[in-house]
Amino acid sequence: MKVLIATEKPFAKVAVDGIRKEIEAAGYELVLLEKYTEKAQLLDAVKDVNAIIIRSDIVDKEVLDAAKELKIVVRAGAGYDNVDLAEATAHGVCVMNTPGQNSNAVAELAFGMMIMAVRNFYNGKAGTELMGKKLGIHAYGNVGRNVARIAKGIGMDIYAYDAFCPKEAIKADGVTPVDSADELYKNCDVVSLHIPATPETRKSINYDLVNLMPKNGLLVNTARKEVIDEEGLLKLMEERQDLKYVTDIMPEKNEEFAAKCAGRYFSTPKKMGAQTAEANINAGIAAAKQIVAYFKDGCEKFRVNKK
Ligand code: 3PG
Repeated sequence: MKVLIATEKPFAKVAVDGIRKEIEAAGYELVLLEKYTEKAQLLDAVKDVNAIIIRSDIVDKEVLDAAKELKIVVRAGAGYDNVDLAEATAHGVCVMNTPGQNSNAVAELAFGMMIMAVRNFYNGKAGTELMGKKLGIHAYGNVGRNVARIAKGIGMDIYAYDAFCPKEAIKADGVTPVDSADELYKNCDVVSLHIPATPETRKSINYDLVNLMPKNGLLVNTARKEVIDEEGLLKLMEERQDLKYVTDIMPEKNEEFAAKCAGRYFSTPKKMGAQTAEANINAGIAAAKQIVAYFKDGCEKFRVNKK
């Protein structure tokens, strides 16, 4: 079996070493395509491989067509909106993710960005503290839970909205569940986004929703850029000079945000949430193990596409 790591944003070396150990111990071969800049490089690299480990790398029909020997794609991470699931199914390819493996890293970055924003991006002017402030966690999955755990240590008053998570599970963590996104945004000084990018969530964080936030509201996005209605948010932030937006996923309208919301807006140049040695090791090795278990035992525990 030939396994390809195709990562436009590479894993830490220590993670690649760990993945290699798992793959070679199973008697398979590992090949690497890191920091590629052209899709053609990916199309060439997938030609003869049986498995691929990716991150936010795009696996679409063209890639699947080129990968004639492919049986499985594992997205080392949580969100799999970068993989065309229907096409994978049509090509007889199994798609998996590695849920939970990088969620602490993303949650920690959310706080890094939060603190940076409430301290006025370290410009020397007096800011505010997070202790005692109301934090709204929008979607209570693996990242949301880690955000809640950290927020407790800081002493925040924590709320969460998740249409799919039972309220009892949220309450059990000492977090107050609310009934709607509107209620969350209306009540919380800071909202941290942890929703996946799906047809339903696309552009769902819009003018009307964010406008419900109290004065000096802060929106933190370590989820996906697609969930933001950029036009609506831009318009709102121009109207409401009190609002701040920090994001780990550069918006399409980054330059407009930077120019029109100077001092209240920040984007990382490249998504950094899961970019820690620990998260790379956890997600990368989990991906390698899932590939081995799939080939050796037919294990499809983390499969996310239909058969
Ligand atoms: C995820 O969905 O796991 C995160 O967004 C991390 O993505 P990355 O592997 O591209 O950093």
